Amino acid sequence: MAPFSAQRFYDELADDYHLIYPDWSLSVARQGSALDALVREYLRRAKPLDILDCSCGIGTQAIGLAERGHRVVATDLSPAAAARADTEARRRALVMAAAAGDMRALPFADSSFDVVLSADNALAHLLTEDEVRRAVGGMRRVVRDQGLLVLTAKDYGDARQARRQSTVPAVTDTPAGQVVTFQLWHWQDDGVYDFDHIQLLPDGDSWQVRVRRATSRAWTLEELAQLVRECGFDDVTWHSVDESHFFQPVLTARPV
Ligand SMILES: C[S@@+](CC[C@H](N)C(=O)[O-])C[C@H]1O[C@@H](n2cnc3c(N)ncnc32)[C@H](O)[C@@H]1O
Repeated sequence: MAPFSAQRFYDELADDYHLIYPDWSLSVARQGSALDALVREYLRRAKPLDILDCSCGIGTQAIGLAERGHRVVATDLSPAAAARADTEARRRALVMAAAAGDMRALPFADSSFDVVLSADNALAHLLTEDEVRRAVGGMRRVVRDQGLLVLTAKDYGDARQARRQSTVPAVTDTPAGQVVTFQLWHWQDDGVYDFDHIQLLPDGDSWQVRVRRATSRAWTLEELAQLVRECGFDDVTWHSVDESHFFQPVLTARPV
């Protein structure tokens, strides 16, 4: 079966994406702070950095980093998500360029950025090694030689082996009532799975159900690290949640 389109999925989700978080603005600030501390520790520069977030979504990390004073360019496969990132940045009076763009074909000149970031498991939407190589190879091209690659990804642990079928429901309080979000996973071969992303929205005494579908690949952290090395990076390191204070493992790597 053909994979479900990631662009369509995130276009349809863009207006509701913040509902995945109990408090999206708080997460923006926390994630920005954690990533800012990490890149400053590695690059040892007090000045603002040129940062590309090449899978920005509605701007969870890009806006957080712009709030910390960095010059952020934000792109995403989903035009609707990138447009919302732009709106959210303007609402906060931040100068941040946001536009649609595919990380498999980055539309930037060589050596344009101090940091290239792709956060919150965006790489899982790249279903083959060739696609990951195209994306990470492009990141190597646009990051400066003294710069840093930062990727964050879900640690699937034994989910792939065990063919886990669902995620734990997340509950968000809104003025209209609670919103519940969870996923059902349908496994294929080679660690690829289609998922139903299900949101229950309060509707009087009942629920309105929104179902959107996408396809991901449960890359192991070691598989991603190896692909990053093949694309011209070394000092490839996964940082645990305890170490980075980010909500999922963070990979840093330096250009060779
Ligand atoms: C789980 S969301 C995370 C978004 C954002 N980093 C955040 O945390 O809010 C994954 C994002 O990856 C984007 N994405 C998937 N494939 C992409 C590609 N080939 N190029 C750029 N972005 C892509 C999706 O459109 C989506 O916005």
